Amino acid sequence: MSNVVLVGSQWGDEGKGKIIDILSAKSDIIIRFQGGNNAGHTVVIGDEQFILHLIPSGILHKGKICVIGNGVVVDPEALLHEIDTLKKRGINVDKSLVVSDQVHIIFPYHKLLDELREKRKGKSKIGTTKRGIGPCYGDKVSRCGIRLTELLNPKILREKLKFNIDEKNAILRTLYGNKGFSLDEIYATYLDYGKRIGRYMKNTPLFLNEAIEKKKSLLFEGAQGTLLDIDHGTYPYVTSSSATAGGACIGTGISPVKIRRVIGVAKAYTTRVGEGPFPTEFASELMKKIRKKGKEFGATTGRPRRCGWLDAVILKHAVMINGLTELVVTKLDVLDDTDPIKICVAYKCGNKTLRYFPTNMDTLSRCKPVYEELPGWKEDTSSVTKYGQLPFKARKYIAFISKVAKKKITMVSVGSERSQTLIRV
Ligand code: GDP
Ligand code: IMO
Ligand code: MG
Repeated sequence: MSNVVLVGSQWGDEGKGKIIDILSAKSDIIIRFQGGNNAGHTVVIGDEQFILHLIPSGILHKGKICVIGNGVVVDPEALLHEIDTLKKRGINVDKSLVVSDQVHIIFPYHKLLDELREKRKGKSKIGTTKRGIGPCYGDKVSRCGIRLTELLNPKILREKLKFNIDEKNAILRTLYGNKGFSLDEIYATYLDYGKRIGRYMKNTPLFLNEAIEKKKSLLFEGAQGTLLDIDHGTYPYVTSSSATAGGACIGTGISPVKIRRVIGVAKAYTTRVGEGPFPTEFASELMKKIRKKGKEFGATTGRPRRCGWLDAVILKHAVMINGLTELVVTKLDVLDDTDPIKICVAYKCGNKTLRYFPTNMDTLSRCKPVYEELPGWKEDTSSVTKYGQLPFKARKYIAFISKVAKKKITMVSVGSERSQTLIRV
Protein backbone atom coordinates (compact mmCIF):
# COMPACT_ATOMS: atom_id res chain seq x y z
CA MET A 1 0.00 0.00 0.00
CA SER A 2 1.43 3.41 -0.93
CA ASN A 3 1.38 6.41 1.43
CA VAL A 4 -2.15 7.14 2.59
CA VAL A 5 -3.69 9.98 4.59
CA LEU A 6 -6.94 9.33 6.44
CA VAL A 7 -9.01 12.24 7.77
CA GLY A 8 -12.40 12.82 9.34
CA SER A 9 -14.92 14.36 6.91
CA GLN A 10 -17.25 15.82 9.52
CA TRP A 11 -16.83 17.07 13.12
CA GLY A 12 -14.74 14.15 14.39
CA ASP A 13 -15.64 10.72 15.81
CA GLU A 14 -16.42 9.34 12.34
CA GLY A 15 -14.86 5.97 13.22
CA LYS A 16 -11.33 6.85 12.07
CA GLY A 17 -9.75 4.58 14.72
CA LYS A 18 -11.59 1.52 13.42
CA ILE A 19 -10.62 2.19 9.80
CA ILE A 20 -6.98 2.97 10.70
CA ASP A 21 -6.82 -0.36 12.54
CA ILE A 22 -8.00 -2.16 9.41
CA LEU A 23 -5.66 -0.30 7.04
CA SER A 24 -2.74 -0.83 9.45
CA ALA A 25 -2.59 -4.49 8.47
CA LYS A 26 -1.20 -3.40 5.09
CA SER A 27 0.97 -0.49 6.33
CA ASP A 28 4.41 -0.40 7.92
CA ILE A 29 4.26 2.88 9.83
CA ILE A 30 1.21 4.65 11.27
CA ILE A 31 1.60 8.32 12.16
CA ARG A 32 -0.47 10.87 14.10
CA PHE A 33 0.23 14.34 12.71
CA GLN A 34 -1.88 16.82 14.69
CA GLY A 35 -4.07 17.27 17.75
CA GLY A 36 -3.36 15.68 21.08
CA ASN A 37 -5.24 13.70 23.68
CA ASN A 38 -8.42 15.57 22.78
CA ALA A 39 -8.79 12.68 20.31
CA GLY A 40 -10.44 9.41 21.27
CA HIS A 41 -10.09 6.68 18.64
CA THR A 42 -11.90 3.42 19.32
CA VAL A 43 -10.81 0.02 18.06
CA VAL A 44 -12.87 -3.08 18.83
CA ILE A 45 -11.32 -6.53 18.45
CA GLY A 46 -13.65 -9.35 19.45
CA ASP A 47 -15.08 -8.32 22.79
CA GLU A 48 -12.14 -6.09 23.65
CA GLN A 49 -12.35 -2.33 23.21
CA PHE A 50 -9.34 0.01 23.08
CA ILE A 51 -9.58 3.80 23.11
CA LEU A 52 -6.42 5.48 21.83
CA HIS A 53 -5.84 9.17 22.55
CA LEU A 54 -2.24 9.89 21.49
CA ILE A 55 -0.80 6.62 20.29
CA PRO A 56 -1.74 5.76 16.67
CA SER A 57 -4.53 3.21 16.27
CA GLY A 58 -2.15 0.86 14.44
CA ILE A 59 -0.54 -0.10 17.76
CA LEU A 60 -2.74 -3.20 18.11
CA HIS A 61 -0.99 -4.85 15.14
CA LYS A 62 2.28 -6.55 16.00
CA GLY A 63 5.42 -5.38 14.20
CA LYS A 64 4.15 -1.94 13.14
CA ILE A 65 5.92 1.29 13.99
CA CYS A 66 3.65 3.97 15.46
CA VAL A 67 4.85 7.56 15.30
CA ILE A 68 3.66 10.66 17.11
CA GLY A 69 4.63 13.31 14.56
CA ASN A 70 5.98 16.82 15.11
CA GLY A 71 2.55 18.43 14.64
CA VAL A 72 1.06 16.72 17.71
CA VAL A 73 0.87 18.34 21.16
CA VAL A 74 1.73 15.90 23.94
CA ASP A 75 0.61 15.84 27.55
CA PRO A 76 3.37 13.62 29.02
CA GLU A 77 1.20 12.46 31.90
CA ALA A 78 -1.50 11.32 29.44
CA LEU A 79 1.05 9.63 27.16
CA LEU A 80 2.69 7.72 30.03
CA HIS A 81 -0.74 6.69 31.29
CA GLU A 82 -1.69 5.40 27.81
CA ILE A 83 1.60 3.47 27.54
CA ASP A 84 1.03 1.90 30.98
CA THR A 85 -2.61 1.05 30.25
CA LEU A 86 -1.65 -0.70 27.01
CA LYS A 87 1.16 -2.57 28.82
CA LYS A 88 -1.32 -3.85 31.41
CA ARG A 89 -3.42 -5.19 28.53
CA GLY A 90 -0.46 -7.06 27.05
CA ILE A 91 0.67 -4.48 24.49
CA ASN A 92 4.23 -3.36 25.02
CA VAL A 93 4.95 -0.26 22.94
CA ASP A 94 8.64 0.03 23.78
CA LYS A 95 9.84 -1.31 20.42
CA SER A 96 7.07 0.20 18.31
CA LEU A 97 6.50 3.75 19.58
CA VAL A 98 8.41 6.73 18.23
CA VAL A 99 7.80 10.31 19.38
CA SER A 100 9.06 13.34 17.51
CA ASP A 101 11.59 15.44 19.42
CA GLN A 102 9.70 18.48 18.07
CA VAL A 103 6.27 17.80 19.63
CA HIS A 104 5.10 20.65 21.83
CA ILE A 105 4.45 19.79 25.45
CA ILE A 106 1.18 20.48 27.26
CA PHE A 107 1.83 21.87 30.77
CA PRO A 108 -0.63 22.21 33.68
CA TYR A 109 -1.04 25.94 32.98
CA HIS A 110 -2.33 25.12 29.48
CA LYS A 111 -5.03 22.89 30.92
CA LEU A 112 -6.04 25.41 33.58
CA LEU A 113 -6.13 28.28 31.08
CA ASP A 114 -8.25 26.16 28.71
CA GLU A 115 -10.77 25.60 31.49
CA LEU A 116 -10.82 29.16 32.86
CA ARG A 117 -11.01 30.75 29.40
CA GLU A 118 -14.03 28.58 28.59
CA LYS A 119 -15.72 29.66 31.82
CA ARG A 120 -15.00 33.32 31.08
CA LYS A 121 -16.53 33.00 27.60
CA GLY A 122 -19.83 31.98 29.20
CA LYS A 123 -22.50 31.41 26.57
CA SER A 124 -20.01 31.73 23.71
CA LYS A 125 -17.76 28.91 25.00
CA ILE A 126 -16.37 26.44 22.45
CA GLY A 127 -17.03 23.34 24.52
CA THR A 128 -13.40 22.18 24.43
CA THR A 129 -12.16 18.90 25.88
CA LYS A 130 -10.23 20.95 28.49
CA ARG A 131 -7.04 19.07 27.65
CA GLY A 132 -5.03 22.31 27.17
CA ILE A 133 -4.90 21.91 23.38
CA GLY A 134 -5.68 25.53 22.40
CA PRO A 135 -3.31 27.22 24.89
CA CYS A 136 -0.48 24.81 23.98
CA TYR A 137 -0.82 25.45 20.23
CA GLY A 138 -1.13 29.15 21.14
CA ASP A 139 2.32 29.06 22.77
CA LYS A 140 3.71 27.13 19.79
CA VAL A 141 2.55 29.81 17.37
CA SER A 142 3.65 32.60 19.75
CA ARG A 143 7.10 30.98 19.73
CA CYS A 144 7.33 30.45 23.47
CA GLY A 145 6.30 26.76 23.48
CA ILE A 146 8.47 24.00 24.90
CA ARG A 147 9.34 20.97 22.78
CA LEU A 148 10.01 17.41 23.93
CA THR A 149 13.74 17.72 23.23
CA GLU A 150 13.89 20.59 25.72
CA LEU A 151 12.49 18.42 28.54
CA LEU A 152 15.83 16.62 28.32
CA ASN A 153 17.88 19.78 28.76
CA PRO A 154 17.60 20.97 32.40
CA LYS A 155 19.07 24.43 31.78
CA ILE A 156 16.91 25.32 28.76
CA LEU A 157 13.81 23.78 30.35
CA ARG A 158 14.15 25.88 33.49
CA GLU A 159 14.74 29.09 31.52
CA LYS A 160 11.78 28.57 29.20
CA LEU A 161 9.50 27.41 31.99
CA LYS A 162 10.36 30.47 34.06
CA PHE A 163 9.42 32.80 31.21
CA ASN A 164 6.13 30.99 30.66
CA ILE A 165 5.14 30.50 34.28
CA ASP A 166 5.86 34.16 35.14
CA GLU A 167 3.64 35.27 32.27
CA LYS A 168 0.86 32.73 32.91
CA ASN A 169 0.85 33.40 36.66
CA ALA A 170 0.38 37.12 36.00
CA ILE A 171 -2.68 36.34 33.86
CA LEU A 172 -3.99 33.71 36.28
CA ARG A 173 -3.68 36.03 39.28
CA THR A 174 -4.96 39.29 37.80
CA LEU A 175 -7.66 38.04 35.44
CA TYR A 176 -8.81 34.83 37.11
CA GLY A 177 -7.95 35.29 40.81
CA ASN A 178 -6.05 31.99 40.71
CA LYS A 179 -2.89 31.42 42.73
CA GLY A 180 -0.90 30.15 39.73
CA PHE A 181 1.90 27.58 39.54
CA SER A 182 5.24 26.91 41.22
CA LEU A 183 8.22 26.82 38.86
CA ASP A 184 10.12 24.32 41.03
CA GLU A 185 7.28 21.81 41.11
CA ILE A 186 6.56 21.83 37.40
CA TYR A 187 10.27 21.82 36.58
CA ALA A 188 10.94 18.70 38.70
CA THR A 189 7.88 16.81 37.43
CA TYR A 190 8.53 17.55 33.76
CA LEU A 191 12.24 16.80 33.98
CA ASP A 192 11.19 13.37 35.19
CA TYR A 193 8.64 12.99 32.35
CA GLY A 194 11.41 13.91 29.90
CA LYS A 195 13.59 11.09 31.26
CA ARG A 196 10.74 8.60 30.85
CA ILE A 197 9.64 9.69 27.37
CA GLY A 198 13.16 10.36 26.06
CA ARG A 199 13.62 6.69 25.13
CA TYR A 200 10.96 7.02 22.37
CA MET A 201 12.33 10.29 20.97
CA LYS A 202 13.59 10.59 17.38
CA ASN A 203 14.13 13.05 14.55
CA THR A 204 10.89 11.86 12.90
CA PRO A 205 10.96 13.88 9.63
CA LEU A 206 14.30 12.20 8.88
CA PHE A 207 13.12 8.78 10.07
CA LEU A 208 9.93 8.96 7.96
CA ASN A 209 11.61 10.26 4.80
CA GLU A 210 14.21 7.51 5.05
CA ALA A 211 11.40 4.98 5.49
CA ILE A 212 9.79 6.24 2.26
CA GLU A 213 13.13 5.82 0.47
CA LYS A 214 13.14 2.22 1.71
CA LYS A 215 9.67 1.78 0.13
CA LYS A 216 7.83 1.46 3.43
CA SER A 217 4.07 2.21 3.43
CA LEU A 218 3.04 5.11 5.62
CA LEU A 219 -0.46 5.63 6.98
CA PHE A 220 -1.24 9.09 8.35
CA GLU A 221 -3.95 9.06 11.01
CA GLY A 222 -5.94 12.28 11.20
CA ALA A 223 -7.58 13.26 14.45
CA GLN A 224 -10.72 15.43 14.79
CA GLY A 225 -12.27 16.22 11.40
CA THR A 226 -12.49 18.68 8.50
CA LEU A 227 -15.03 20.94 10.23
CA LEU A 228 -12.83 21.12 13.35
CA ASP A 229 -9.82 22.30 11.30
CA ILE A 230 -8.43 25.62 12.52
CA ASP A 231 -8.67 27.18 9.02
CA HIS A 232 -11.30 25.21 7.14
CA GLY A 233 -13.70 24.35 9.94
CA THR A 234 -16.49 26.16 11.74
CA TYR A 235 -14.19 28.74 13.36
CA PRO A 236 -14.12 29.57 16.26
CA TYR A 237 -15.93 26.31 17.13
CA VAL A 238 -12.93 24.24 16.03
CA THR A 239 -9.81 22.69 17.48
CA SER A 240 -6.42 24.42 17.21
CA SER A 241 -4.67 22.28 14.59
CA SER A 242 -4.83 21.44 10.88
CA ALA A 243 -7.06 18.39 10.89
CA THR A 244 -7.32 18.33 7.09
CA ALA A 245 -5.03 16.43 4.70
CA GLY A 246 -2.51 19.27 4.36
CA GLY A 247 -1.81 18.91 8.08
CA ALA A 248 -0.31 15.48 7.40
CA CYS A 249 2.60 17.11 5.54
CA ILE A 250 3.16 19.95 8.02
CA GLY A 251 2.81 17.64 11.00
CA THR A 252 5.32 15.04 9.80
CA GLY A 253 7.76 16.72 7.41
CA ILE A 254 6.63 14.65 4.43
CA SER A 255 6.16 16.36 1.07
CA PRO A 256 2.67 16.40 -0.54
CA VAL A 257 4.12 14.70 -3.64
CA LYS A 258 4.75 11.58 -1.54
CA ILE A 259 1.03 11.10 -0.75
CA ARG A 260 -0.95 8.81 -3.10
CA ARG A 261 -4.38 8.43 -1.47
CA VAL A 262 -6.48 10.60 0.80
CA ILE A 263 -9.33 8.75 2.47
CA GLY A 264 -12.20 10.64 4.11
CA VAL A 265 -14.22 8.87 6.78
CA ALA A 266 -17.87 9.90 7.16
CA LYS A 267 -20.61 8.57 9.38
CA ALA A 268 -23.86 7.62 7.64
CA TYR A 269 -25.30 10.55 9.63
CA THR A 270 -23.61 13.47 11.40
CA THR A 271 -22.49 14.12 14.98
CA ARG A 272 -20.63 16.83 16.81
CA VAL A 273 -19.49 17.39 20.38
CA GLY A 274 -19.24 20.90 21.73
CA GLU A 275 -20.88 24.14 20.67
CA GLY A 276 -21.39 25.77 17.29
CA PRO A 277 -23.76 25.73 14.30
CA PHE A 278 -25.06 22.35 13.09
CA PRO A 279 -27.66 22.80 10.31
CA THR A 280 -28.95 19.19 10.16
CA GLU A 281 -29.19 18.62 13.94
CA PHE A 282 -32.11 16.35 14.91
CA ALA A 283 -35.07 17.41 17.00
CA SER A 284 -35.19 15.73 20.38
CA GLU A 285 -36.92 12.44 19.58
CA LEU A 286 -34.64 11.31 16.72
CA MET A 287 -31.68 12.71 18.67
CA LYS A 288 -32.42 10.37 21.57
CA LYS A 289 -33.01 7.35 19.31
CA ILE A 290 -29.84 7.72 17.21
CA ARG A 291 -27.68 8.70 20.20
CA LYS A 292 -28.77 5.52 21.96
CA LYS A 293 -28.45 3.20 18.98
CA GLY A 294 -25.11 4.73 17.85
CA LYS A 295 -23.78 4.96 21.45
CA GLU A 296 -22.98 8.58 20.70
CA PHE A 297 -21.08 9.57 23.80
CA GLY A 298 -17.58 11.08 23.60
CA ALA A 299 -14.68 8.59 23.73
CA THR A 300 -12.58 11.22 25.53
CA THR A 301 -14.94 13.22 27.73
CA GLY A 302 -18.05 11.01 27.82
CA ARG A 303 -20.20 13.98 26.74
CA PRO A 304 -23.37 13.17 24.75
CA ARG A 305 -22.76 13.89 21.06
CA ARG A 306 -25.23 16.03 19.13
CA CYS A 307 -26.66 14.01 16.22
CA GLY A 308 -28.22 14.96 12.87
CA TRP A 309 -28.87 13.87 9.27
CA LEU A 310 -26.01 13.37 6.82
CA ASP A 311 -25.00 16.70 5.31
CA ALA A 312 -23.75 16.43 1.72
CA VAL A 313 -22.79 20.12 1.68
CA ILE A 314 -20.26 19.29 4.39
CA LEU A 315 -19.10 16.17 2.54
CA LYS A 316 -18.48 18.16 -0.65
CA HIS A 317 -16.47 20.67 1.41
CA ALA A 318 -14.40 17.78 2.83
CA VAL A 319 -13.86 16.31 -0.64
CA MET A 320 -12.61 19.67 -1.93
CA ILE A 321 -10.43 20.79 0.99
CA ASN A 322 -8.74 17.41 1.49
CA GLY A 323 -8.64 16.37 -2.16
CA LEU A 324 -10.25 13.12 -1.07
CA THR A 325 -9.57 10.26 -3.44
CA GLU A 326 -12.27 8.11 -1.79
CA LEU A 327 -14.79 7.92 1.02
CA VAL A 328 -15.45 5.37 3.75
CA VAL A 329 -18.94 5.36 5.28
CA THR A 330 -19.30 4.11 8.86
CA LYS A 331 -22.18 3.30 11.20
CA LEU A 332 -24.63 2.42 8.45
CA ASP A 333 -26.20 -0.10 10.87
CA VAL A 334 -27.27 2.73 13.17
CA LEU A 335 -29.86 3.76 10.54
CA ASP A 336 -31.26 0.20 10.21
CA ASP A 337 -34.63 1.07 11.72
CA THR A 338 -34.96 4.67 10.56
CA ASP A 339 -37.43 5.39 7.76
CA PRO A 340 -37.41 7.68 5.83
CA ILE A 341 -33.78 8.83 5.78
CA LYS A 342 -32.92 12.41 4.88
CA ILE A 343 -29.77 13.86 3.32
CA CYS A 344 -29.12 17.59 3.22
CA VAL A 345 -28.14 18.56 -0.34
CA ALA A 346 -28.12 22.37 -0.06
CA TYR A 347 -28.78 25.19 2.41
CA LYS A 348 -31.43 27.88 2.22
CA CYS A 349 -30.19 31.15 3.62
CA GLY A 350 -32.82 33.91 3.34
CA ASN A 351 -33.90 33.72 -0.31
CA LYS A 352 -30.56 32.28 -1.48
CA THR A 353 -29.81 28.59 -2.05
CA LEU A 354 -26.24 27.64 -1.12
CA ARG A 355 -24.74 24.47 -2.56
CA TYR A 356 -21.30 25.08 -1.04
CA PHE A 357 -20.26 25.33 2.59
CA PRO A 358 -20.16 29.02 3.60
CA THR A 359 -16.95 30.44 5.03
CA ASN A 360 -18.88 32.91 7.18
CA MET A 361 -20.17 31.30 10.37
CA ASP A 362 -22.90 33.89 10.86
CA THR A 363 -24.25 32.81 7.45
CA LEU A 364 -23.97 29.14 8.45
CA SER A 365 -25.90 29.72 11.65
CA ARG A 366 -28.79 31.14 9.58
CA CYS A 367 -28.77 28.26 7.04
CA LYS A 368 -31.73 25.90 6.85
CA PRO A 369 -31.12 22.47 5.30
CA VAL A 370 -32.74 21.44 2.00
CA TYR A 371 -33.35 17.69 2.20
CA GLU A 372 -33.77 14.82 -0.21
CA GLU A 373 -35.56 11.82 1.24
CA LEU A 374 -34.72 8.17 0.69
CA PRO A 375 -36.61 5.14 1.97
CA GLY A 376 -35.13 3.31 4.95
CA TRP A 377 -34.30 -0.42 4.56
CA LYS A 378 -35.64 -1.50 7.96
CA GLU A 379 -33.45 -4.60 8.12
CA ASP A 380 -30.45 -5.53 10.21
CA THR A 381 -27.16 -4.83 8.41
CA SER A 382 -24.77 -5.52 11.28
CA SER A 383 -24.34 -9.19 10.36
CA VAL A 384 -23.85 -8.59 6.63
CA THR A 385 -20.38 -9.68 5.50
CA LYS A 386 -20.37 -8.70 1.80
CA TYR A 387 -21.37 -5.40 0.23
CA GLY A 388 -23.66 -7.14 -2.28
CA GLN A 389 -25.64 -8.67 0.60
CA LEU A 390 -26.73 -5.29 1.95
CA PRO A 391 -30.44 -4.57 1.49
CA PHE A 392 -31.12 -2.92 -1.87
CA LYS A 393 -32.32 0.32 -0.21
CA ALA A 394 -29.14 0.49 1.90
CA ARG A 395 -27.05 0.19 -1.27
CA LYS A 396 -29.21 2.93 -2.81
CA TYR A 397 -28.37 5.16 0.16
CA ILE A 398 -24.64 4.49 -0.28
CA ALA A 399 -24.94 5.12 -4.03
CA PHE A 400 -26.70 8.42 -3.33
CA ILE A 401 -23.87 9.56 -1.02
CA SER A 402 -21.34 8.58 -3.66
CA LYS A 403 -23.26 10.52 -6.32
CA VAL A 404 -23.57 13.76 -4.35
CA ALA A 405 -19.96 13.62 -3.11
CA LYS A 406 -18.72 12.54 -6.57
CA LYS A 407 -16.43 10.01 -4.90
CA LYS A 408 -16.27 6.23 -4.81
CA ILE A 409 -17.06 4.64 -1.46
CA THR A 410 -14.44 1.99 -0.88
CA MET A 411 -15.56 0.67 2.51
CA VAL A 412 -18.79 0.54 4.44
CA SER A 413 -18.80 -0.19 8.15
CA VAL A 414 -21.78 -1.90 9.78
CA GLY A 415 -20.56 -2.35 13.35
CA SER A 416 -17.70 -1.44 15.64
CA GLU A 417 -15.90 -4.80 15.38
CA ARG A 418 -13.05 -5.30 12.89
CA SER A 419 -14.97 -7.94 10.96
CA GLN A 420 -18.04 -5.72 10.47
CA THR A 421 -16.45 -3.99 7.50
CA LEU A 422 -17.51 -4.33 3.88
CA ILE A 423 -14.56 -3.70 1.61
CA ARG A 424 -15.44 -2.81 -1.98
CA VAL A 425 -12.01 -2.71 -3.62
P1 GDP B 1 -12.91 8.35 15.87
O1 GDP B 1 -12.60 9.44 16.85
O2 GDP B 1 -13.16 8.87 14.50
O3 GDP B 1 -11.90 7.25 15.88
O4 GDP B 1 -14.29 7.71 16.35
P2 GDP B 1 -14.69 7.32 17.86
O5 GDP B 1 -13.96 6.09 18.24
O6 GDP B 1 -14.60 8.49 18.75
O7 GDP B 1 -16.25 7.06 17.68
C1 GDP B 1 -16.74 6.09 16.82
C2 GDP B 1 -17.57 5.11 17.63
O8 GDP B 1 -18.38 4.33 16.76
C3 GDP B 1 -16.75 4.11 18.41
O9 GDP B 1 -17.44 3.75 19.58
C4 GDP B 1 -16.66 2.91 17.47
O10 GDP B 1 -16.44 1.67 18.15
C5 GDP B 1 -18.02 2.94 16.85
N1 GDP B 1 -18.12 2.46 15.47
C6 GDP B 1 -17.21 2.56 14.46
N2 GDP B 1 -17.73 2.09 13.31
C7 GDP B 1 -18.98 1.66 13.61
C8 GDP B 1 -20.04 1.09 12.83
O11 GDP B 1 -19.94 0.89 11.63
N3 GDP B 1 -21.22 0.83 13.49
C9 GDP B 1 -21.38 1.05 14.82
N4 GDP B 1 -22.55 0.76 15.37
N5 GDP B 1 -20.40 1.57 15.58
C10 GDP B 1 -19.22 1.88 14.98
P1 IMO C 1 -11.48 12.58 17.43
O1 IMO C 1 -10.06 12.47 16.91
C1 IMO C 1 -14.88 15.16 18.27
C2 IMO C 1 -13.96 19.21 19.65
C3 IMO C 1 -14.37 19.58 21.07
C4 IMO C 1 -14.67 21.06 20.86
C5 IMO C 1 -13.60 21.49 19.87
C6 IMO C 1 -12.38 22.13 20.52
O2 IMO C 1 -11.82 11.57 18.45
O3 IMO C 1 -12.44 12.63 16.29
P2 IMO C 1 -10.30 21.16 21.87
O4 IMO C 1 -10.24 20.42 23.17
O5 IMO C 1 -9.70 20.43 20.72
O6 IMO C 1 -9.78 22.57 21.99
O7 IMO C 1 -11.88 21.32 21.58
O8 IMO C 1 -13.20 20.33 19.18
N1 IMO C 1 -13.10 18.01 19.53
C7 IMO C 1 -13.54 16.83 19.07
N2 IMO C 1 -14.77 16.43 18.72
N3 IMO C 1 -13.82 14.33 18.15
C8 IMO C 1 -12.59 14.72 18.46
O9 IMO C 1 -11.49 13.98 18.21
C9 IMO C 1 -12.39 16.01 19.00
N4 IMO C 1 -11.33 16.71 19.45
C10 IMO C 1 -11.77 17.94 19.76
O10 IMO C 1 -15.49 18.86 21.48
O11 IMO C 1 -15.91 21.21 20.24
MG1 MG D 1 -13.27 10.13 18.71
